[in-house]
Amino acid sequence: MSRQKRIGILTSGGDCPGLNAIIRSVVKYASLKGWEVYGIPRSIDGFVDIAKGKLQPEDIKLKENGYDIPGVLQGLDVLHFLSGSVLGSSSKENATLPEVTHEIMEGYHRLQLDALIAIGGDDSTEKMYNLSKQGNWNLVIIPKTINNDVAFTERSVGFDTACNTATQALYDLTFTAASHERIMIVQTMGRDAGHLALHSGIAGGADAILVPELTPKLNEKLVDELCRYIAHMRQYRRKFALIVIGEGVRNLEGQKDHYIAETLAKLINEHSRKLCLAGDEMFAGMDEIDTRATILGHLQRCGVPTSFDRILATVFGIKAVNLIEQERFNRIVIWENGDVQSKSLDKIIPLIKWCHKNDACTSPLDPDGFMVRTALSLGIFLGDWEHHHLVFSNEGENVYYPTNNYLQPTTNQEIQESGIVNS
Ligand code: F6P
Repeated sequence: MSRQKRIGILTSGGDCPGLNAIIRSVVKYASLKGWEVYGIPRSIDGFVDIAKGKLQPEDIKLKENGYDIPGVLQGLDVLHFLSGSVLGSSSKENATLPEVTHEIMEGYHRLQLDALIAIGGDDSTEKMYNLSKQGNWNLVIIPKTINNDVAFTERSVGFDTACNTATQALYDLTFTAASHERIMIVQTMGRDAGHLALHSGIAGGADAILVPELTPKLNEKLVDELCRYIAHMRQYRRKFALIVIGEGVRNLEGQKDHYIAETLAKLINEHSRKLCLAGDEMFAGMDEIDTRATILGHLQRCGVPTSFDRILATVFGIKAVNLIEQERFNRIVIWENGDVQSKSLDKIIPLIKWCHKNDACTSPLDPDGFMVRTALSLGIFLGDWEHHHLVFSNEGENVYYPTNNYLQPTTNQEIQESGIVNS
């Protein structure tokens, strides 16, 4: 048995399914080693409460069996199945004010922690990294987010469950869409990444999928092409269709729109009416396109974690404890080629900082990646007709999609600054 350690664990940023499964895995494995685990409530805000004496270390010590349920369920590991975070989470923690930082540091040292496991997305990773440098903390990060946009990990905890939720919603909407011969537009979360929209769109049988990497903003040409695509479907295939739009797609003015699905529904409706009135030949004998929008919202952050998310949560938790035991601190646990690995935060933080500074996504969809190609191979409308044409025509080396103003480091200087070369 290794020397007894005291470790802390916290959840930071937006919640997602699988957070409790990570906590459960860490507590179980660390307890077997005889270590003590302290659950910091409400992310780093909990350190402030400890510094102020509102909480005592004993109040937040986590027990191996989690929570005592009486009766026949006594001892059940409920944490494995529950979504949300039993520790509470926060994305608004203000760690930049000097007095707050001072209290966070005091709380951390009062607990006499050997190491801290912080579960978070890329914003939290940067925040925790900065604090750990200031306070000399022994930090390990576990990536979670339904957006799947944490750099250098192929999967983050929560993404798979969110995909399933959105896929199920598409299945459910299919039958009401069919009954009324309507176009259903479904808005997924995902922030500035299209992973959730594209994965659930393909799994849910969507006819069109708009993601920020390929469609940074709506434009009139796109609305026209989408209307014609739907008209073509109506003439030759079926009368209803499902469109998925990622929340990161901006409106006609290039602005963030919390109701982008509603905005698109209105644009399609108005434009198709114009085409009907103008006697456009594709719309001959047709009515304007009847559209309805559904915003899936926070339901995507709920639900019982899928088996994949529970497994990912469990192996990530165990890997984090192993890293602490080996005193390999300042690392992020990642999923790569079907295996759990870790990477130095010093190597990946420059990219995260570069992306945050330039308002870019740290891990966008690859516009030429296999998921995009899969969608195109199925004839799914992805927003840019030229892109379809280029990919389908497969013009050798020159197959290239101009991603408009979608931001990624491109010049040598930017690539150096972002740290990609060192990763
Ligand atoms: O980052 C996770 C996420 O769920 C995004 O997909 C979404 O844009 C955002 O958080 C919503 O945040 P809030 O819960 O603060 O509205």
